[in-house]
Amino acid sequence: MESSSRPATCTVAALLVVSLLLPRSCASDGDELAVGERLTPGQPLVSDGGAFALGFFSPVDGAAPARLYLGIWYNSIPGPRTVIWVANREAPASNPTLALSNDSSTLVISDADGRALWTSSGVPSGTSTPPRPAVLENDGNLVLRSRNGTVLWESFDHPTDTFVPGMKVRLNHRTRQGNRIVSWRSPGDPAPGSFSYGLDPSTYLQLVMWNGTRRYWRSPVWTGYTVTSNYVSAGTNVYTAVVDDEEQMSVSFTVSDGAAPTRYVVTGSGRFQLLSWNRTASAWATLASWPSVACSAYGSCGAYGYCDVTVSPAPACRCPDGFEPASAADWSAGRFGQGCRRKEALPPCGSGEDGFLPMRSMRVPDKFVVQGGNRSAEECAASCVASCSCVAYAYANLQSSSAKGDVSRCLVWVGDLVDAMMIGAQWRSTAETLYLRVRVAPASTGKRASKSAVKIAVPVIAGVLLLTSIFFVWFFRENREPEEANACKAASANTSTKIREGDHTEDLEFPLIQFADIVAATGNFSKTFMIGRGGFGKVYKVVAVKRLSKDSNQGAEEFKNEAILIAKLQHRNLVRLLGCCTEGAEKLLIYEYLPNKGLDAILFDTERKSVLNWPTRLGIIKGVARGLLYLHQDSRLTVIHRDLKASNVLLDAELKPKIADFGMAKILCDDQVNANTRRVVGTYGYIAPEYSVEGVFSVKSDVYSFGVLVLEIVTGVRITSPDGIKDFPSLIAYAWHLWREGKAVELLDPSLAKSCSPDEALLCIHVGLLCVQDDANRRPIMSSVVSILENGSASATASLWLPMPTQPAYLGVMGETAELENTRNTIAMTVIQGR
Ligand SMILES: *[C@@H]1O[C@H](CO)[C@@H](O)[C@H](O)[C@H]1NC(C)=O
Ligand SMILES: *[C@@H]1O[C@H](CO)[C@@H](O)[C@H](O)[C@H]1NC(C)=O
Ligand SMILES: *[C@@H]1O[C@H](CO)[C@@H](O)[C@H](O)[C@H]1NC(C)=O
Ligand SMILES: *[C@@H]1O[C@H](CO)[C@@H](O)[C@H](O)[C@H]1NC(C)=O
Ligand SMILES: *[C@@H]1O[C@H](CO)[C@@H](O)[C@H](O)[C@H]1NC(C)=O
Ligand SMILES: *[C@@H]1O[C@H](CO)[C@@H](O)[C@H](O)[C@H]1NC(C)=O
Ligand SMILES: *[C@@H]1O[C@H](CO)[C@@H](O)[C@H](O)[C@H]1NC(C)=O
Ligand SMILES: *[C@@H]1O[C@H](CO)[C@@H](O)[C@H](O)[C@H]1NC(C)=O
Repeated sequence: MESSSRPATCTVAALLVVSLLLPRSCASDGDELAVGERLTPGQPLVSDGGAFALGFFSPVDGAAPARLYLGIWYNSIPGPRTVIWVANREAPASNPTLALSNDSSTLVISDADGRALWTSSGVPSGTSTPPRPAVLENDGNLVLRSRNGTVLWESFDHPTDTFVPGMKVRLNHRTRQGNRIVSWRSPGDPAPGSFSYGLDPSTYLQLVMWNGTRRYWRSPVWTGYTVTSNYVSAGTNVYTAVVDDEEQMSVSFTVSDGAAPTRYVVTGSGRFQLLSWNRTASAWATLASWPSVACSAYGSCGAYGYCDVTVSPAPACRCPDGFEPASAADWSAGRFGQGCRRKEALPPCGSGEDGFLPMRSMRVPDKFVVQGGNRSAEECAASCVASCSCVAYAYANLQSSSAKGDVSRCLVWVGDLVDAMMIGAQWRSTAETLYLRVRVAPASTGKRASKSAVKIAVPVIAGVLLLTSIFFVWFFRENREPEEANACKAASANTSTKIREGDHTEDLEFPLIQFADIVAATGNFSKTFMIGRGGFGKVYKVVAVKRLSKDSNQGAEEFKNEAILIAKLQHRNLVRLLGCCTEGAEKLLIYEYLPNKGLDAILFDTERKSVLNWPTRLGIIKGVARGLLYLHQDSRLTVIHRDLKASNVLLDAELKPKIADFGMAKILCDDQVNANTRRVVGTYGYIAPEYSVEGVFSVKSDVYSFGVLVLEIVTGVRITSPDGIKDFPSLIAYAWHLWREGKAVELLDPSLAKSCSPDEALLCIHVGLLCVQDDANRRPIMSSVVSILENGSASATASLWLPMPTQPAYLGVMGETAELENTRNTIAMTVIQGR
């Protein structure tokens, strides 16, 4: 939660003072009201322990005629009463009495004439025989119990304006009934005021303060924590607890042992405050007060605006990246109500030009829609991608929480985003990342090109496409298909008119060019674009084109969709798909070109492998892991590559890896954890056992391939190598054997001798072995792998806290199992070398 806190100090001397001030007569007054007894003004009950008192009081001293209310107040605190609970909020009397009904099920306040002013309500008309007295407990709770001890009624369940430790703000899942903390109308009038605080009945996931029926302030959305420590001042920690059980959602708080009395209160003027008793000053100190800053009041920053409390000294409304104030004049004058608008409209749904902007450390906006079901983060993202009206999503894992139903919390937004706040990373348990749908600037294959380079880029790419189309036309002739070059379009259609100077689209990319434009251009550029003339920007020199086998039974539409989806995957460790063409049975993918070709060409080449020293290899392993993580989890889709291997890891000029060849990638739909296929595709040696045997693939099959790749990179030995594995059936078996014997160092590629860091290499081998485990469930997910590699390689002891790998399956590794239909999808053509 957002905060403002005042440090407080509490000395031993102060404690002594307070204990001397405690009324000595507490215990003798009794804490019970039995059937037949009457509580009258001036004779309060005091809890056993002396902390609280129950009695009649007047909020305005000396008022006449006296308007008396039944209330509970801190007995241990000197000075004016601090009342935490009021019974007859709207029905004061000058001479009231409190009594317990004969069956001890109901408390009744009567006036001097015996008229009932108030009864404790909400009680199932259970009876208690023999009757039991009402008891004021030492936490300030007035309780009626049945004979067997169950609570029939308690004041804690009917709060007024104060929330104290032990109380619960709750909401029943089935009935949608709960309780709220409701302000006094004014300091002298306990009648219900307009401000109230409770769980949001439309979502159960947040606490809301209302002004009447309008939302006035909002807590962060529950991220699944069970207990969180929010406010700390000297001697006082405040722990907020959330319990979600089958019956209800409830929120309560406690303070550290021995802390001074602490309470939340909803004031009549519309503030939610956390107060702690300062024994030195003999006064209540405000630890926090909400709304804490002007822009944190509900919806202050308008649609799409957010209140940034991380900027000091003055928190302010802001617009997310890619947005601007709807009215610049209002905004600069401090009127934020109109909010923000997109600088550029979202591209048409499915065009592939949108993406998600992560906004970290946020209290996410209101008016979300909860997506039910046990979703993974990827499935959550996919549910937003799948809906054209979805503008944002946020995901939280509730696995470690008390939640009884779904183990995840997936929120999507379909309307304007209101009441977002950037609360800062220090509020770890409540801050989260909001993924906002935005138009993505087309990523270029290189750094921002100069304007002249852009102008040149069009013809260069066009030239490449000319060759592509020549190839393509040739192919069609051979197949006696109609020749219809115009049908071959860039995946993302017709946005060439959007190429403007001065914005991101100057990072030109293929999908911005219509095929027709290119055909038109080729006449003019047929000679000019021939690479080698010099003077062109080097980024755009070369494009690789891949032709997929025509016996692939994917439909053209299906293929195009998939290509469009893949075109959305943009990550520095993935080769960029620049575009695609479909025409009849022909399918072309146009990829970014990388000069160094596949990792296999260097790693397994005795002459060249020394280029790959250890830091480079570790960088490749990490890069591939990050690319794979992106495919699996961080992109908006769950993409399973299915054919990860050394030859599909391309190296750029700096030997940084990029995963290529999504020709066999599968995109899992919502709610799909794994999929089944009759056609096992992939490459011998890299295929996970469950996939080759049962045809079941999941992200864990990629993890397996990754493990194999890691072992190859560390050893410099091909998984399918006929030699170099000594007497073992496979590289994996060999690696496992040496690792188990504590001799894993012997696995290292001899060419690494000089550059190697044994700790890092051992960690990589360990990770590799974890990834190639037979049981897919035991293999780590890529996020764990990335985190182990990123953090672990910096620490010599990292391997100690990793789980031990289990013995990998030897069978299936060498591929005597499934019938493999695979790499005949050939990389074709068109590598045009630069000057
Ligand atoms: C209590 O009040 C005293 C006097 O105003 C102040 O010096 C002290 O810091 C306060 N302590 C806390 C814990 O707020
Ligand atoms: C409660 O019991 C007393 C005596 O046993 C009786 O006089 C009184 O009428 C009863 N009150 C009610 C409300 O039944
Ligand atoms: C206790 O008594 C209440 C009502 O008097 C009843 O609903 C409940 O089932 C009882 N519980 C047990 C454990 O006997
Ligand atoms: C609460 O709502 C009332 C009525 O809508 C309004 O007059 C008042 O200003 C609001 N209070 C605050 C603090 O916003
Ligand atoms: C979610 O998954 C957990 C275990 O994975 C299961 O216990 C729970 O019933 C599931 N909830 C729903 C709503 O499917
Ligand atoms: C682009 O295509 C859309 C339909 O896909 C069409 O509405 C629009 O007019 C086209 N724009 C241009 C500039 O051709
Ligand atoms: C070359 O381009 C110009 C416009 O830049 C166009 O008018 C002309 O027709 C083109 N020439 C050919 C041969 O296509
Ligand atoms: C590495 O550890 C630090 C702190 O322990 C953490 O903040 C960071 O997120 C970790 N990095 C990864 C990639 O897990």
